[in-house]
Amino acid sequence: MARILVTGGAGFIGSNFVHFVLSRTPHTIVVLDKLTYAGNRESLTGLPEERFQLVVGDICDAALVDALVADSDIVVHYAAESHNDNSLHDPSPFVETNLIGTYTMLEAVRKHGKRFHHISTDEVYGDLDLNDPVRFNESTPYNPSSPYSSTKAGSDLLVRAWVRSFDVQATISNCSNNYGPFQHVEKFIPRQITNILAGQRPKLYGTGENVRDWIHADDHSSAVLTILEKGTIGETYLIGANGEKNNKSVIEMILRLMGHDETEYDHVNDRPGHDLRYAIDSTRLHEELGWEPAYTSFEDGLLATIDWYRAHPLWWQRDKAATEARYTELGR
Ligand code: NAD
Ligand code: DAU
Repeated sequence: MARILVTGGAGFIGSNFVHFVLSRTPHTIVVLDKLTYAGNRESLTGLPEERFQLVVGDICDAALVDALVADSDIVVHYAAESHNDNSLHDPSPFVETNLIGTYTMLEAVRKHGKRFHHISTDEVYGDLDLNDPVRFNESTPYNPSSPYSSTKAGSDLLVRAWVRSFDVQATISNCSNNYGPFQHVEKFIPRQITNILAGQRPKLYGTGENVRDWIHADDHSSAVLTILEKGTIGETYLIGANGEKNNKSVIEMILRLMGHDETEYDHVNDRPGHDLRYAIDSTRLHEELGWEPAYTSFEDGLLATIDWYRAHPLWWQRDKAATEARYTELGR
């Protein structure tokens, strides 16, 4: 039984990890989260009080981080500024949280000799051509495109350097696009679902030919647990579930699953520097650690996600109007 410090545990993937771990293991979790616009206490309700605590604070606060790391066995680091569109508008919080924040976490785990797992993204590898048979693997060179992905790439490199130079006991995972409950309405899938629920039309950037490799957040969580249990210190593991789909087909599927005509969406301005395609080869995770995803049908997982947003209007309505106002300013 371990005491796990989860940074960013009030965000989308972090909160799914907290629910996943507390419902399947005897571990105790302390979440450190700043509750930025992307964090939500309501994503952490219904958890066992004796095994869960939320600390509201900043991962750049060295004294706070030091005390929490000293008191933990394992640190799983999810906290980040995570949205590409925001990073194009104002990169500064991305540099601060993703780089300085990760540095602050690393210094604390170095001092206290604690196991660290760094959560990262496939975007550090840049993008692929549409019909390229190649997919990203652990040897793909870094080539990030946006302020978001470049700060995530920088944070990965900090972790690698702290492993090599200071023997920090760390692993890294780079995952593809997640979907599931508790995802902020600024992101592609929840934006479209909640637009339809709110009587607005879905919005497709550019032509919609861009491909993302979708994985359910629970499968991301099970992969991270597998790496914590069986991963080799100093190694990187790519997490993906063979979920490549172009954005146009995902919008059409959402419309169809929600009982609408597949053409009822708007084309809006494209994202500057928009990555064309991401695709993950997760052979290493399968062959070396024996991990398999539980969600084999994207359509079933998407339907369950649509049902979740339908059943939790108060959760997403909190952020919807402000998010759409920001998109209106950007012409998207
Ligand atoms: P999110 O934006 O939903 O959540 C981020 C959380 O971090 C929020 O709760 C926020 O309050 C918190 N946070 C931000 N700055 C902080 C700070 N300075 N101190 C403490 N807490 C802070 O993000 P997400 O989509 O859940 O992503 C979580 C992690 O997973 C990120 O590291 C991201 O790069 C990575 N990732 C995301 C995806 C995806 O598809 N969303 C895929 C691969 C990897
Ligand atoms: O690949 C992993 C990454 O996936 C994570 O590292 C990021 O944190 C996460 O936000 C996600 O990045 P993307 O930029 O791929 O996700 P987003 O949901 O913003 O957009 C997905 C695709 O949908 C992308 O090609 C842009 C497009 N899009 C997005 C929005 C919000 C639209 O067509 N319409 C939209 O309204």
